[in-house]
Amino acid sequence: MSIQSVSITPWQDQEPGTSGLRKSTRDFMRPGYLEAFLQSVFDEAAPQPGDALLVGGDGRFFCREAAAIVVRMALANGFSRVIVGRDGLMSTPAASHLIRKRGAKGGVILSASHNPGGPDGDFGVKYNTDSGGPAPTTFTAGVFARSKALTAYRILQDEAPDLSVVGETRLGDGVVEVVDPIADYAGLMETVFDFDAIRALVSQPGFRMAFDAMNAVTGPYATEILERRLGAPAGTVLRGEPLPDFGGGHPDPHPDHTPELTARMFGEDPLDFAAASDGDGDRNMIMGPAMVVSPGDSLAILAAHADCVPRYRDGLKGLARSMPTSRAADRVAAALGIEMHETPTGWKFFTNLLDAGRITLCGEESFGTGSDHVREKDGLWAVLFWLNVLAATGKGVGEVVVGHWSRFGRDYYQRHDYEGLEVGPAQDFMKGLREAAAGAEGRQIAGYLVQSAEDFAYSDPVDGSEVKHQGVTVRLSPDARVTYRLSGTGSSGATLRVYLERFEDPAGDLHRDPAEALAAVAEVSRAFAGIEARLGRTEPSVIT
Ligand code: G6P
Ligand code: ZN
Repeated sequence: MSIQSVSITPWQDQEPGTSGLRKSTRDFMRPGYLEAFLQSVFDEAAPQPGDALLVGGDGRFFCREAAAIVVRMALANGFSRVIVGRDGLMSTPAASHLIRKRGAKGGVILSASHNPGGPDGDFGVKYNTDSGGPAPTTFTAGVFARSKALTAYRILQDEAPDLSVVGETRLGDGVVEVVDPIADYAGLMETVFDFDAIRALVSQPGFRMAFDAMNAVTGPYATEILERRLGAPAGTVLRGEPLPDFGGGHPDPHPDHTPELTARMFGEDPLDFAAASDGDGDRNMIMGPAMVVSPGDSLAILAAHADCVPRYRDGLKGLARSMPTSRAADRVAAALGIEMHETPTGWKFFTNLLDAGRITLCGEESFGTGSDHVREKDGLWAVLFWLNVLAATGKGVGEVVVGHWSRFGRDYYQRHDYEGLEVGPAQDFMKGLREAAAGAEGRQIAGYLVQSAEDFAYSDPVDGSEVKHQGVTVRLSPDARVTYRLSGTGSSGATLRVYLERFEDPAGDLHRDPAEALAAVAEVSRAFAGIEARLGRTEPSVIT
């Protein structure tokens, strides 16, 4: 085996964010840049003979080339087997499943999730550990420390085999195994859900649905599962072909980015059910006639209906949500008498809880929902869960949602994003907020009383690890919250996210427009933090 050691000047900017390293595609394509990051990852992972590595990607521009580089570097760095999705494709949840199923040491996922792709878009690399979940912060901090001093990377001189052909090839001292990325995942879904009941639902002539794959990775998965295995009519899957630039679209499952679904669902003749997933298949958006189900509500509703699903029929161990996610799930956990955990933003914080059997379902406001079936959030799983609930209850999406609010109350929810900020001022703003938090109690703003404000820190109940400064939450009376944090997934500049929520109990008005119901809370959010004075912004750039 001939291994080449290539000298480099260490990069200083390879600090992983919420979900791995994300940069513009052009940054990633600079000579040696991807290679340097991979070398730091492999050094930190320290593979032993016999170890396998899984490689998957969301099919975006540069994925194929990057997958071939991962293959050559993994074998040069001590992995004995590299398992790659055909054409370098694999959804993030499918990769998580296969890491676990195949007992791999870890996986490299090539994706910038919901960020646009293409030469002018973004690219990303994330490492998942043998649990199938994103590497913890101790690992990513180790990777960053190594990258700043890394002076060479190791790569096989031999070319990678043709990744479009399923099968095994010897390369160097190891084996490259190209696998069908769909089959194992589709098989897993059949073990989780009641496919017979869903099949009966989707084949009813009166039931109409659509799934928008946004020309991203879930197209082939959705076609196989929804159309082939469950018998939904051909054409149920929209934009089903993965394209390197996602067809020029923004592969984020949001009503603004799914024009066909949105027009249909808010038009005169809506479908019964519509859904979409993101670039790498881990996010989900659920729509019913004239409604988008808020992700916090979706988690709570699925938890409350878990007994409809074979895998969860015997009960849930516990639930978790990220701190800025609405407290709707907390109300279900209380009713079920099970544990509820509040974690920092980022799926990696759920992994220990899932591994330790403390929780079964978890979710985030950022359109992510998942369970202990894998260690990532899972877009198609959420879609199938909803279909399973509709099939088992015989109700429509709206009926399920309103029924939930009537029982548990409604957590009105909105996220306000202030995009395109400069990094320095944005960090200073958060620092100022943290300092102001301590003395905030008792302030009166826009009809609300500040009960407390806290700089969120998390101590992992399983391994005791601690993280600080994960966002500032302001608790208000009457029952409302405002949370501030900086996005950790951007590839340039800074985005301030402000999360607003207000609880309305079941006897209150459950049918207001969230913007109107939250108008006073929005005013508190701006006034409390002095957004205009400190950041020069009077309005958010995006409201979700
Ligand atoms: C990724 C992670 C999620 C997280 C989200 C937050 O999608 O996988 O777990 O919720 O990033 O993004 P942000 O931009 O708010 O840091
Ligand atoms: Zn994603």
